[in-house]
This record gives sequence, C-alpha cells and structure tokens, in this order.
Amino acid sequence: MHVSELASRIALIGLPGCGKSTIGRQLARLWSLPFVDSDLVIEQRLGCSIREYFEREGEQAFRDVEAQVIDELTQVRTGLLLSTGGGVVLREENRRHLHERVQVYYLKCAPEDIAVRLRNDLTRPLLQVGDPAQRLRDLLQQREPFYLQAAHHVIQTTGLTVAQAVQRIRMQAEPA
Ligand code: S3P
Repeated sequence: MHVSELASRIALIGLPGCGKSTIGRQLARLWSLPFVDSDLVIEQRLGCSIREYFEREGEQAFRDVEAQVIDELTQVRTGLLLSTGGGVVLREENRRHLHERVQVYYLKCAPEDIAVRLRNDLTRPLLQVGDPAQRLRDLLQQREPFYLQAAHHVIQTTGLTVAQAVQRIRMQAEPA
C-alpha cells in the first residue's frame, strides 16, 4: 500500500473513555477526513445499543460483530479517521487488520483519569461495577500488550485536555 494512502487512514485505540471519539472527531475535522466510530456502526447493524446486546447475547457475540465491522472498515480505500471500541484489540485478527491496513495511534491514559471522567457514564457495560477505577486498571493490565502490538504510535494523554491531545497527535502525524 502506498505510504500516503496509509497515512490518511488512521485508527485510534485505547481504553474505554480515553477520548478516542472526541479526539477523533476533532482530528477528522482538521484533516478533512470522514470520521467513523466503529461502535456506532456496530449499533446501527445490531439495531440496539451495545449495552443491550451485551446483556442479551453476551460479550463473544458482540466481539463477532465487532470483528466483522473492523474487517470491513479497515478495507475502505478512501481516507478515514476511525475510532474503535476499547476491547477491539482482544482479537488477534482485529490487531492484524488494524496494524496492516491503517496507521494506529494508541491513546494511553491512566485508569484513574478515565474513572473520574466516566463517573456518571451508564453506557459502557464493562464499567458498571462498584469500583470502575480498579476495573480499568485490570483492563489495562490485560490489554496493554495488545494495544502496543496493534499500534504504530503511542500517545500519552494522561492529564492532557482534548486540545492538547489533538496537538500531540498532530505533532506525530504532521512532521515539520
Ligand atoms: C468496550 C468498549 C466500548 C464498546 C464495548 C466494549 C471494551 O467502547 O466497544 O462496550 O471492551 O472496552 P469504548 O471504548 O468507546 O467505550
């Protein structure tokens, strides 16, 4: 694949609540790329929320649909800014499809930061627990090697505002 083609096809990965969608929307606007949130594509396909589907069909059924959608979206030939679900890296095929087909940025954020940001969130099924910060620490420990395997770039976002995180990604992606 030609380098410039790869460079305009970008995916953001990272823990739930690390800012993939918010940051992705801003980058897409700046770079005039179509923004796609794979979770929204999945929900359109399911005809219900991810939370409902998790409850009804279980996580593995959700992961099957997620893998199908990631396979399709990473084959889109035009530019795109793809925001993914936090668990997308769990399946080897997703890590491979992302890494081989698009430029992958891992937004690395401290679980404690995310827990504060998501304290009123009811949409994320995996975080509806008594101690979301501990859950996020567990998820990070389990997933960190997978995020690193899928990523081309690691962007530290702990303590950064959205604007600062966007700036940091631009500095990586737009070499002077
Ligand atoms: C998940 C994260 C969610 C969504 C689903 C599973 C996960 O996306 O894909 O609830 O396993 O971490 P966000 O990262 O946008 O919250």
